Amino acid sequence: MITIFVEEKNGTRTPIEVPTDMNLSLMEILKASEYSIPATCGGMALCATCHVQVVEGEAFKQATETEWDMFDTLPAVPEGSRLACQIRLTDEMEGIVIRPLVLED
Ligand code: FES
Repeated sequence: MITIFVEEKNGTRTPIEVPTDMNLSLMEILKASEYSIPATCGGMALCATCHVQVVEGEAFKQATETEWDMFDTLPAVPEGSRLACQIRLTDEMEGIVIRPLVLED
């Protein structure tokens, strides 16, 4: 298990305990933790509705080429942008801080 932190718009950081032995994506964890990210494409890197920003965790701020194919279609891509469905949770991610950028009301 590792602990990651989800930063809300108001700056509050909520810790979430996540297993790293189930090959789960960050998108799946956020949904399971009742963050209402739409994740419309179901994790295929095709919708960008799981867009998050890695606030702390330098090693995980680099989006992959697949992610950039999607980010290139967006009007705003802040530093540290990632698609949560493309991030697999590993032990090295202990303590990272992420900020969801697309939440349903
Ligand atoms: S769920 Fe669609 S891009 Fe991640």
